[in-house]
Amino acid sequence: MITYNEKAKTWKLDTPHTSYICALADGKYLPHVYYGKSVSDTDLSYLTRTDEGPFVPSVNPAEKQGFLDVCPMEYPCSGTGDSREAAISIENEAGQEGLELTFRSFRIIDGKPALPGLPASFGEPCQTLVITMEDTILHIAVELFYTVFDDVDVLTRSTRIINEGEETLFLTRALSVSLDLPEAGGEEVLTFSGTWAREHRPVRTPAGPTAIVTKSLRGESGHDGQPFIGLLSENADYENGKVYGLHLVYSGDYFGSARVNPFASNRLALGINPDHFRWKLLPGADFQTPEAVLTYSDAGLGGMSRTLHDFYRRHLIRQRWAFENRPVLINNWEATYFDFNTEKLLSIAEEASKAGIDLLVVDDGWFGHDRSEPSGSLGDWFVNEQKLPGGVHYLSQKLHENNMKLGLWFEPEMVSENSDLYRAHPDWVLKLHGRQPARCRDQYVLDFSNPDAVNYIILSIEKILKSAPVAYLKWDMNRPLCDAGSAYLPVDQQGELWHRHVLGLYRIQETLLSDFPDLLIENCSSGGARFDPGMLYYSPQIWTSDDMDPIERAMINEGTELLYPVSAMGSHVCKERNDITGRRVPLATRVFSAMIGSFGYELDITELPAEEKTLLPGQIAFYEKVMRPLILFGDYYRLASLADNGRYDAVELVSKDRSEAIVFFLQGLAQPNAKSTLIRLQGLNPEVAYLLEKVDLGTDADSASHEKDFTDGPALGGLDGGRLHGDTLMGAGLHVEHVREDFWSTMIHLVKE
Ligand code: GLA
Repeated sequence: MITYNEKAKTWKLDTPHTSYICALADGKYLPHVYYGKSVSDTDLSYLTRTDEGPFVPSVNPAEKQGFLDVCPMEYPCSGTGDSREAAISIENEAGQEGLELTFRSFRIIDGKPALPGLPASFGEPCQTLVITMEDTILHIAVELFYTVFDDVDVLTRSTRIINEGEETLFLTRALSVSLDLPEAGGEEVLTFSGTWAREHRPVRTPAGPTAIVTKSLRGESGHDGQPFIGLLSENADYENGKVYGLHLVYSGDYFGSARVNPFASNRLALGINPDHFRWKLLPGADFQTPEAVLTYSDAGLGGMSRTLHDFYRRHLIRQRWAFENRPVLINNWEATYFDFNTEKLLSIAEEASKAGIDLLVVDDGWFGHDRSEPSGSLGDWFVNEQKLPGGVHYLSQKLHENNMKLGLWFEPEMVSENSDLYRAHPDWVLKLHGRQPARCRDQYVLDFSNPDAVNYIILSIEKILKSAPVAYLKWDMNRPLCDAGSAYLPVDQQGELWHRHVLGLYRIQETLLSDFPDLLIENCSSGGARFDPGMLYYSPQIWTSDDMDPIERAMINEGTELLYPVSAMGSHVCKERNDITGRRVPLATRVFSAMIGSFGYELDITELPAEEKTLLPGQIAFYEKVMRPLILFGDYYRLASLADNGRYDAVELVSKDRSEAIVFFLQGLAQPNAKSTLIRLQGLNPEVAYLLEKVDLGTDADSASHEKDFTDGPALGGLDGGRLHGDTLMGAGLHVEHVREDFWSTMIHLVKE
């Protein structure tokens, strides 16, 4: 997988279909040479153009700055000549910034070293190249880690910076990856935007000499972006084009940028956001950056998605849950909000159990003295016995009698002013000197740089988990960080607070999972504000968005699925009239939509009309039998985008052996005077005949709830129950009838004959 060409002094890292090459130049610099589709040769060092003016410094010392400013670099330094985006910057005791990294040594090892305190990919077989660079003036060693796995087209990179000298240094920038790619012209940069209830919208911007920057300043990855930057060839779409994707395994403030430099090279960079970041590096100390995931696909965005999905399922999500059936759950939040007690919960559980639901999540409101609204009790992680007499133990026993398990909501990073915790430790709150911290959802943020606060949270959560069998934990975070001052950290370490918050968060989740290995954690942050690969390491599913309206979810899912496996998306059936949009959506559409993800319900099932209650067992049985295996193990294809065409959305899931597939088609607003829609399937076996069947869960929007007349046409152009070959379905396509009903949807099940 990793080869060193001694003569050419190049390192070549091969994945099944890609190659990555870097080289030694002028005996000491480390230029980037190539990343893309697999190539046979190891010596491509001519691509660095070091034999062109201004030439390498040993040939032309008079123009060293010019060399450093154009050479494609693996890990560019600040302050000494490369004026493009730097990957590393260090301040010395004199307050000056600048360093120059030169080659010291390298080693190739089998396997992959762990990243202390950080989530990171794992699994065999893989190989790691460690190139050690140094700055002989600052006495700094910088280890560049590159890992390749032999089963997927992904390469990971991270960096460890070690202070080998006697001076205290300050790291002001330490990105995880920098990648200099030649410009072909017409490229676009892919980033993400969004906000609460409208998360994960892909944004394409023409690449050029103006830097395109994506970053978070919220202490979390945020609703409004992804720790990701991609570069797409001209007109790349879901099926075609060259796509580079860089994704950071990190849950705090990130920084990504792309800029075309004067000599037609595109520099991509990704890592911890240098704003707010200043890390004290004492003599002998080291700093480990988070890991970046790099992928290249020449099969468009769809190719990138499928590679990332496979990589995350096989090499990032804890294997205890990655491919394991997740419980079908019911969450009481939108059913009751804060207004519940044991009796109400058990009435929901009774209905849920009859339907075959596995687990009840008791959401916000079960703890502290008074949590009848968002203003109190965060931090007081003990059961409110007035609301839940007998506590969690009694509740879990009752659930057990109904064949169900218990899940509990926590928001461990937060504290309410009206709480025992705040009264005891007002200094555990993030706060700038002399200022009242800004409230958000009426709560403050705990200072996780303080180990006492972190230990308190571990102890209080574990106390609950030990008091009764709790199978699932929903970890929420309902506000961003600000006022980031710590009463705990000394003056010259305040710049470490944002990263230390994330390290504290990781330490707690790591401890919980090592003490309770079967626990299923679902991360959440006001919906999808912390949906990132760092969280995915701990939690195989993440709450995608508070917005469960299927029309909105189609657009939220599109962005999320670009990067994350479908099984990672927490997805619930909402009420008929959605609480966020006010939109009324037919039951079939709400159910089908929620089935594209890790499935559950979030409505008061005790109040469902009797005819809808009787449908629940069929929905759950279908999800468990057909959908869940396709989601856990299968491949994902996007066939159409409601966000792009404004009319309909279509996704497909195909089993790895291509013997079975599901297509979910969702119509937006019904169009007047419309005809049926042609969709071409993907990923099937061209030679195999498939039997086609429309999924009927008894709530068929086709027959029961809308008036059908001759303008609608027969289901699937008369092919429902029919048979077609993979090449026909992919080449000629299928007609999905137009139905005169807003938000109508259908699901088609294909099985190899
Ligand atoms: C956040 C979550 C919701 C719910 C509420 C409870 O908004 O995203 O799912 O848990 O908090 O306060």
